[in-house]
Amino acid sequence: MRLSRFLAVAGAASRRKAEDIIRAGRVRVNQALVKDPAFNVEAEHDRVELDGRVLQLEEPVYILLYKPAGYLSTVTDTHGRPTVLDLLPAVRQRLYPVGRLDLDTEGLLLLSNDGDFTYLITHPRHEIEKVYQAEVKGEVTRRVVRQLRDGVMVDGRPTSPARVKVLKRSRGRTRLEIRIHEGRKRQVKKMCASVGHPVLSLKRTALGVLTLQGLKPGDYRHLIRQEVDQLRSLAVEDGGHEFD
Ligand code: URA
Repeated sequence: MRLSRFLAVAGAASRRKAEDIIRAGRVRVNQALVKDPAFNVEAEHDRVELDGRVLQLEEPVYILLYKPAGYLSTVTDTHGRPTVLDLLPAVRQRLYPVGRLDLDTEGLLLLSNDGDFTYLITHPRHEIEKVYQAEVKGEVTRRVVRQLRDGVMVDGRPTSPARVKVLKRSRGRTRLEIRIHEGRKRQVKKMCASVGHPVLSLKRTALGVLTLQGLKPGDYRHLIRQEVDQLRSLAVEDGGHEFD
């Protein structure tokens, strides 16, 4: 396998960062300095060191968590607030969130120790569909739904076409389902705010082939092999990009 992939799978860095780390001369294979990210390593035999520390290939884990609101999608927090890792005490491997949900957003969050997978799933080119349910303030008209579908300005750039439908209209609020392929920071909240309907609560209900079916807030499960493969192939197809 490529040296850069080895670093990513070992959880040392994302694949892109791994290439920089290798070029910077921080990696040795069987004690020899290697600066070529494409250098071929035999995972079972070769000894790969980063800054003098031997890297082990952990068994890759892929977890689907139903994140409750009130947990950060980060590994640590300087203010000591609860993070999603607090919900997974039984998992031994070092896990990283695959993408993010805001502190007050609930729903489907993936975690993994496979940096290569994380790169593939979160890279903007790969555009895996994400489905959100947003409870917004006000009664959303058909015209506003069309605006959200066609694209609205977020941080000075129009959003790509989205699939939007009204799930429920009640007095003073509307529940929308919003399907997007982009993953800009706080995108759904900014989209809704830009058409005058601030988000009251937000939940991610699906990512590609995955849903929250059978889980309650705080529950998690391991993905099965087939789901990991499906996500990988979705990422490659959607982005039209070939990966080794
Ligand atoms: N969009 C948001 O605004 N927040 C999230 O947590 C996810 C998508």
